[in-house]
Amino acid sequence: MLVRLQKFLAEAGLGSRRYCETLITGGRVSVNGQPVTVLGAKVDSGKDRVTVAGQPVSIERKIYIVLNKPAGYICTSDDPEGRSRVLDLLPTDLPRLYTVGRLDVNTEGLLLLTNDGTFSLRLTHPRYKMPKTYRAEVAGTLADDQINQLLHGVWSEGELLRAEKIFGVRPVGERTELQLVLREGKNRQVRRMLDGIGCSVRRLVRLSIGSISLGNLKLGEWRNLTNEEVRSLIAN
Ligand code: URA
Repeated sequence: MLVRLQKFLAEAGLGSRRYCETLITGGRVSVNGQPVTVLGAKVDSGKDRVTVAGQPVSIERKIYIVLNKPAGYICTSDDPEGRSRVLDLLPTDLPRLYTVGRLDVNTEGLLLLTNDGTFSLRLTHPRYKMPKTYRAEVAGTLADDQINQLLHGVWSEGELLRAEKIFGVRPVGERTELQLVLREGKNRQVRRMLDGIGCSVRRLVRLSIGSISLGNLKLGEWRNLTNEEVRSLIAN
């Protein structure tokens, strides 16, 4: 597909389109060995060879993955303790991927991974208030006033943390299960809120982000998001 040279350079991660224009007009960009110094040129990202200051530049294929993360796996790519990484659950021939936000090592469930920084920001920045649904199991019972506290806000480390919605509260053996919808995306938010009302979390699973839910994915399994799913998440 033909795209403007400055757009190609920006998508390859060299900087803003404006900055990439200055790279072109400054004579640092060549296409198929020929310097291009005027704006307006178009390139085919699949065919043309683009270099900046002699270094080849390419646009990575964008990848969007949904994974059902098992407990015990970390979201970072390096771990001094040598624990298993969610990246180890994926094929090795994929481009370098990053998790969209994080789940704690002991949290299970829906995790998105991508190499598209704009997509990731769209889903994680608090400004967009992306809804995320969790199922938690806590020890013992849960009183109505504890549920009200979760809805009205629980202070933790100087932040007031709120659940937008609580539903599906039911006893399961010695535990109580509940589902929470959060839109704030604060670090370790569910555990901090439940700790804050005196509940001990025994299990935490993320069920959905926006319109994407775990569906039939088994623990440790993954699949690519469809184009439609990617679009619906961004449009949310
Ligand atoms: N809230 C938490 O406490 N932990 C997670 O992993 C995700 C949300």
